[in-house]
Order: sequence, then C-alpha cells, then structure tokens
Amino acid sequence: MSRTEQLRALSEAHSAHNYHPLPIVVAEAEGAWLTDVEGRRYLDMLAAYSAVNFGHRNPRLTEAARRQLDRVTLVSRAFDHDQFGPFTTELAELCGKDMVLPMNSGAEAVESALKTARKWGYEVKGVPAGQANIITFEGNFHGRTTTIVSFSTDAEAKDSYGPYTPGFRTVPYGDAAALRAAMDDDTVGVLVEPIQGEAGVNVPPSGFLRTVRELCTEFGALMMADEIQSGLGRTGTTFAVEHEGVVPDVYILGKALGGGIMPVSAVVADADVLGVFKPGQHGSTFGGNPLACAIGREVIAMLRTGEFQERSRELGAHMHRRLGALPADLVREVRGRGLWAGVELPGRARPVSERLMELGVLAKETHETTLRLAPPLTISRADLDWALDQLEIALKG
Ligand SMILES: Cc1ncc(COP(=O)(O)O)c(C=O)c1O
Repeated sequence: MSRTEQLRALSEAHSAHNYHPLPIVVAEAEGAWLTDVEGRRYLDMLAAYSAVNFGHRNPRLTEAARRQLDRVTLVSRAFDHDQFGPFTTELAELCGKDMVLPMNSGAEAVESALKTARKWGYEVKGVPAGQANIITFEGNFHGRTTTIVSFSTDAEAKDSYGPYTPGFRTVPYGDAAALRAAMDDDTVGVLVEPIQGEAGVNVPPSGFLRTVRELCTEFGALMMADEIQSGLGRTGTTFAVEHEGVVPDVYILGKALGGGIMPVSAVVADADVLGVFKPGQHGSTFGGNPLACAIGREVIAMLRTGEFQERSRELGAHMHRRLGALPADLVREVRGRGLWAGVELPGRARPVSERLMELGVLAKETHETTLRLAPPLTISRADLDWALDQLEIALKG
C-alpha cells in the first residue's frame, strides 16, 4: 500500500463519510501550490472554497499569527484583550458600518445574522411576537446548521434533518417580482448571496441586487449579504455587492477573514441593528479571540491595499477570456466574476476533476455538471495559464 492509500484508508475507516474528497493526501502547501505525502505537487484551483484567497501560508498572515501565538491566544469574551477593539474597529471601517459581532464558522455568522434580524424585527421594527419572516433564495447555501438547512432547496443538504425551523420564505434567485410578492410588513430580513457559490457560481441578473436593496428599504427589512464566499477580494472588489453599487444593512463574512489559518467570521452592521444584543443574549467562547483578531487585522490591512482585488480583476478577466474561448462541445456555459468561475460541462464534472488531479491541478465539482475554479488570488499568471492548459486537456479527456 502506498502512503496515500494507507492514510486514505484511515480516513475512510474513522471519519464520517460526509465528504467525497479527491484521493490525494496533502502534506504541505505554499502560495498556490500543495504537495502530497508522496512529494507530488498540485496547483490549488479551489483555495478551500475561497478561505485561502491570500494563498497558503501567506507570510504576512503566518507572521501575524506567530507573533500573537507568543502573546495570548484565548481569554473568552469574559475579558477584553488588546486585539479585540482594534479588530472590530478596523473591520467595521472596512465595511463602512459601526459594529462587529465576531464568531467563528460561516454558519455561525449566518445564524447570528438571522437572530439579529429577528430580534431587530421584534424590538426595533415592532413586528408582533413570533410573526417575523425572513426571505431566502432557491439554490442558497449558507451553511449546515438545523435552522440554515431548514430553508435549503438542496435535498442532499436538507433531507432527514427535520423538524425544520419555521419563519422562512424561499423565492427563485434573481426573481424580483417573486421577492416583492413574498415580502410583507412582518419581513425582517432578506438573506442573499450576491453570487451563489455552492449552487455553481450563479451571478444574478444585472440590477437584481439593487432591487433587493430597494425592496428592503421599502418594506423596512434588513438586506443581509452573505459575502462569506463572494467577499474579501474574490470577485475583484472587496465585496461582491459593490458590482451593483449596493450597500446592504448587514454583511456576513467568514472564510478568507481567517486568512486560511483559522475559522474567523463576523456579522457587521450599524449600531441600530447590532445594538439589539445585550449581555447574555448571544455569544461564543472562541468568537473574537486574540489569535483570530490578530489574523483578521492583517487580512483587513492586506485588503486595504487593493492589491488582491486588482489581481482578481485582472487575472479573472484573463481566466474568463480563456474559458469563454473553449469550444462549445467541451463547455456549455461559464459564469462568475473575478478569479471565480463555474464551468458548466455537457456531462459529469467529477471525472474531469479526477483527470485534472492526475495532471497536477486540483479543482472540485459542485453538483453534477459544474466545475468550480477559485484559485488563490496570489496565483501567478503563468501558473493560471498552465492550469487552464491542463483543464483543456482534461476536458478533451
Ligand atoms: C455563502 C456561504 N455562506 C455560508 C457558508 C458556511 O460557512 P462554514 O462552512 O464556514 O460554516 C458557506 C460555505 O461554503 C458559504 O459559501
């Protein structure tokens, strides 16, 4: 048995089979490259679903983490610490808002945003007790908690986890008329991915996010943008809502906020919204811990330079030009923005990702027929071109 087979067998035997990973076992990584336990190198075209936007072991981020590891890593929110105030201030500034509610995983941040909207709805908007509704969209992916899967339209993610949390109305993504029809005086929030990641990098029709903004203002509901996958440089701007000049009431952030080092997530909004929480009403032992805050601060400083957004814009335009030039019998459609693409294939995407792996490129299917490309924003143009050459070979398979 090879080292890879031995380790894969251990994982198969002793971990729940809730993923179908490619059969490689990673040992090390640097920048856009991974090395497996046999010493083979692979170009990472997935970047941990956008959590590694700044590349593996980005030296600025590992240095910030190392510095903090030597100082203090966890005090819980029972005490303040010297990274907390600066982190929340800097993140609020980046978003143009007043306040931050730090959490850990993306799903926790979404849960926290849903709780925020309900509490704000009852205490500020004046919705009658128990009547609040929140609008979500078909094809959504916001995480895996019981409440979040309650409004999933993906049977795989949802089935057998009931009874489900009530209070959600789900309408077709991109359908402004259906959204208007679903909203009423008891609507406290609209939860939207500016681009649907897990659904296959679905970009909504032009003007849709602006309409969501307008309807939220008209109905007095919170527009909550889940930028966990689309945000922090991925689409060529800090936030994907910027492509339509839209400012949501609530930003939900995660993934790349932790620099690919640890889970760091947050809900960001103004004081009239996040101000609804009083001591004891919400919390997290690890949320806003010193190590998370130190890494998050460095991520924010890196985003402030605009360098990563610009790379994503320029290299993304190049990637989309090349993908768009692939013959129609190999590729049905290419969606996305910046260094992010959903490549719709005429057949199953899994065999293509397996062939790509043999060629030294790691990308992953999402659903049956979509291949998702989301390399680290630090990828070089030469490496990107090489990956796209391998994709063409794999597609011709
Ligand atoms: C848009 C969006 N929201 C929420 C999540 C959940 O994040 P996590 O896996 O960190 O809980 C994801 C994860 O893929 C996501 O893409």
